[in-house]
Amino acid sequence: MSIQTNAAGHLTIGGVDALTLAQDYQTPLYVYDVEAIRNQIRAFKAVFEAQAVPYAVSYASKAFATIAMYQVAAQEGCHVDVVSGGELYTAQQADFPMADVSFHGNNKSREELQTALNAGVGTIIVDNFYELQLLGELLAATPDRHQAILLRVTPGISAHTHAYISTGQVDSKFGFDVDSGQALTAARQALSNPQLDLLGIHAHIGSQIFSVAGFEGVTTKLLAILTQWHDELGFVPQVLNVGGGFGIRYTKEDTPLPAADFVEAIVTTLKQAKLPFALPAVWIEPGRSIVGPAGYQLYSVGSRKDVPGLRPFVAVDGGMGDNIRPALYQAEYEAVKAAEPTAAATEDVRLVGKYCESGDILIDHAHLPKTQPGDIVAVLATGAYGYSMASNYNRNPRPAVVFVENGQAKLVVARETYADLTQNDRPYI
Ligand code: LLP
Repeated sequence: MSIQTNAAGHLTIGGVDALTLAQDYQTPLYVYDVEAIRNQIRAFKAVFEAQAVPYAVSYASKAFATIAMYQVAAQEGCHVDVVSGGELYTAQQADFPMADVSFHGNNKSREELQTALNAGVGTIIVDNFYELQLLGELLAATPDRHQAILLRVTPGISAHTHAYISTGQVDSKFGFDVDSGQALTAARQALSNPQLDLLGIHAHIGSQIFSVAGFEGVTTKLLAILTQWHDELGFVPQVLNVGGGFGIRYTKEDTPLPAADFVEAIVTTLKQAKLPFALPAVWIEPGRSIVGPAGYQLYSVGSRKDVPGLRPFVAVDGGMGDNIRPALYQAEYEAVKAAEPTAAATEDVRLVGKYCESGDILIDHAHLPKTQPGDIVAVLATGAYGYSMASNYNRNPRPAVVFVENGQAKLVVARETYADLTQNDRPYI
């Protein structure tokens, strides 16, 4: 969430003036600095390459899934993970290499699994016994076919993050339980089906994590499980997938490590372990850390409410429909005035949206210079889970998405129109 400015002192994104972007594409607007996306992917890869550890950086596309993003991921040699038929379809539309796709989810439907098999998805990350059985049934129709899988386990590691986005604790809906023996049973079942190529294991402990301890812990735990599978079942793992969740900086109070340091810790833990098998490849699944810091949301300021003794409300032309995270997780962001992003703040306002809810507060304490109607404000580090969780609440069309790189802007998702809003409606009368 670095602030770049031009000679006019305006905020620039990917070398383009934010005011120009707002003018050319209207607001509210999602803007991505593509170079920042590429640099983060490269930083992850560099750690593995420096350590000579086989790896895959599998972008968790739920953070931001569009054709353009899958194209950038492909260009950067990333794998991707998808969690629905819709994400898979989008990846296909982008010609993303299907061999580099992992398919996640705790309740994949028969149709989704069939689609994944037909598409040639590289790896299915099997979450539960029902899915193991479904997959076996579907594969039985084509006896010469094989499917690579990982088994997702619940590692029993609770990352200190918001309850809704932490997934690794024992009481979680995701993955095979370990202590009750379910994971071992699942591995035995998978190995007994000659059509399933069990590559290894997966766990994801949560999201927006700041400490490396959880990742060291999950690596150790997964290695212990793999050792058990090796000793009891003769299994030789090829892949250790430790998930994503590397935290990013949303506000000055956030002080995460550089995302690559998490990978460093994982690799060090792995290399120090005494293993009865050769080092498996390490797969990571970062979403937020790849796209979060690269994203900006531009809004136009509209109305304002000043009441003596209360903090002012400054309203913008978007809100909880294009960024649900503050309302859903009490997520915090920082904003700047695009015309003078480095100017000292003169007031502490509530930056609110236009949605018909009191909870539609994008930033509870936005420290900004004085703004006027028509001014553009940029909310920073909004690239993850903003567009991908956007809705049409209050029948607001979803904003456009623009990619910017080397001073060039390109529209990658068109702004929805009012006609888009009613296209699936059918009259009743
Ligand atoms: N792998 C798996 C299996 C996941 O479930 C997730 C996120 C990731 C990777 C990527 O995690 P990341 O690196 O992006 O933290 N909507 C919430 C976040 C939900 C994350 C769900 N799983 C938010 O806006 O904070």
